[in-house]
Amino acid sequence: MTDKTTHLIGLLLGTEDDWPRAFETLVHRLGPVNYGGTEHRLTTERLTIEPFDLRDPVRQDVVIDRLAWWYFHPREWLKKAALVNGTYLLNNPFTFQAMEKHSAYCAMIRLGFDIPDTVLVPYKNPIDHEKWTYTASTYNLPFDLDEVAERVGYPMFMKPFDGGAWRGVSRIDDQAALHSAYDSSGQMLMHLQAAVSPFDVFARSLTIGPETQVMKFRPELPMHHRYEVAHDFLEPEAGQEILTLSRTINAFFRWEFNSCETLVTGTRARPIDYANACPDIAITSLHYYFPWAIQNLLSWSAFCAVTGRRAQIDTATTTWFDVADNPDLSWHDKLARYAQLADAYFQAEEYREFCGTTLAALPELVHDWISGPDFDQLLVETVQTTYPAHEHEQFIAHFRGLMGMWVADQANQNQGNQGQVNQDQVNSKDAAQQVVPAGGTFSDSK
Ligand SMILES: Nc1ncnc2c1ncn2[C@@H]1O[C@H](COP(=O)(O)OP(=O)(O)OP(=O)(O)O)[C@@H](O)[C@H]1O
Ligand SMILES: [Mg+2]
Repeated sequence: MTDKTTHLIGLLLGTEDDWPRAFETLVHRLGPVNYGGTEHRLTTERLTIEPFDLRDPVRQDVVIDRLAWWYFHPREWLKKAALVNGTYLLNNPFTFQAMEKHSAYCAMIRLGFDIPDTVLVPYKNPIDHEKWTYTASTYNLPFDLDEVAERVGYPMFMKPFDGGAWRGVSRIDDQAALHSAYDSSGQMLMHLQAAVSPFDVFARSLTIGPETQVMKFRPELPMHHRYEVAHDFLEPEAGQEILTLSRTINAFFRWEFNSCETLVTGTRARPIDYANACPDIAITSLHYYFPWAIQNLLSWSAFCAVTGRRAQIDTATTTWFDVADNPDLSWHDKLARYAQLADAYFQAEEYREFCGTTLAALPELVHDWISGPDFDQLLVETVQTTYPAHEHEQFIAHFRGLMGMWVADQANQNQGNQGQVNQDQVNSKDAAQQVVPAGGTFSDSK
């Protein structure tokens, strides 16, 4: 008789329903997997928020958390689960609470990455506290905002030190805009950061475990157009640096599901945002890249659950700083060492072996599901709950087109034709409508 082991993956969710349904469906379709001669079964469960005893047992092996960065009761449950029960978490709530965007800049500056000049200025309106009057008169020295801005240089961005979702972000081109933005920053603590302007490419990289997808991003467009389907849009050197950077920051902070933003000019890669506890994974924004994301989220969660990977709450900063501070290493050498450290942290070799054996059936399973009617139903329902009624038809056609393009590209890859995709079609904004006519389905288009 085969030995069976069951692993529960918990989903702690915000308002989203699209990727969780995809995840649950794929886990169910995957069925039992074999690891080390033993049969393992994966199951999922959506978590609810309830009173908990700090000694309560925890049934989940792994929890994918999308809520705790803004809702604190579950965040404290996650910490208890990690500390008392050894539950594996995506992401680490300890370092996400303590290390915001600001700390990520600091760590990367120390590691040698090319962060634009950044200054943190004191609160415009300090927190209301009985001791504030004394602190303000004694320690909060007057400062010359214009002089600080001159040092950073125009144009610049003013943005919260712990930002997210573009809250309080503004581009500053002159003194008037500087003062207006600072006056309205209120109780937000703000960075002034030199603008990278102009730049060639905005690269957004999504990292899950040791795997990274670098995508071309256009923040000025509506969400459904922001991720452009584009291949080979970076110089290899810049692409490699972004890959290493993404994995480095994640391994450094013990983040395992994170998206990062880098502005690239030629081979020069300048990171501007590297701490997103709840990265975008919606079908309606990732579209073509959604299959990659959901497959990797499943693979990494399965790897952590099935192999019993132990969560590391603590960081190992000195190991990284020893590389950063070594005067005998060139930048190229340091990147190579960072890549090795990241691979070691993520057990990249074991993970890829696990994907190639235990999860060998997964890529085809994902492909079949994405090209079939169940995914189409999910797509339609997601569009219906995301957009107003008069836009449903247009967006269903748009996303069907993009997903059809993914299915076609997979077929090309399998035939060894990767790279021969018609670039006009891939890069065209309206490519979606060209690939599949409105109302068509994947199966109709094959
Ligand atoms: N230094 C910079 N140079 C050029 N553009 C910048 C810079 N900093 C921010 N931006 C622009 O402002 C946008 C928002 O900034 P940032 O990503 O730091 O804020 P955020 O609130 O974390 O956004 P999100 O949560 O959407 O990632 C960026 O996507 C980019 O378009
Ligand atoms: Mg950002």
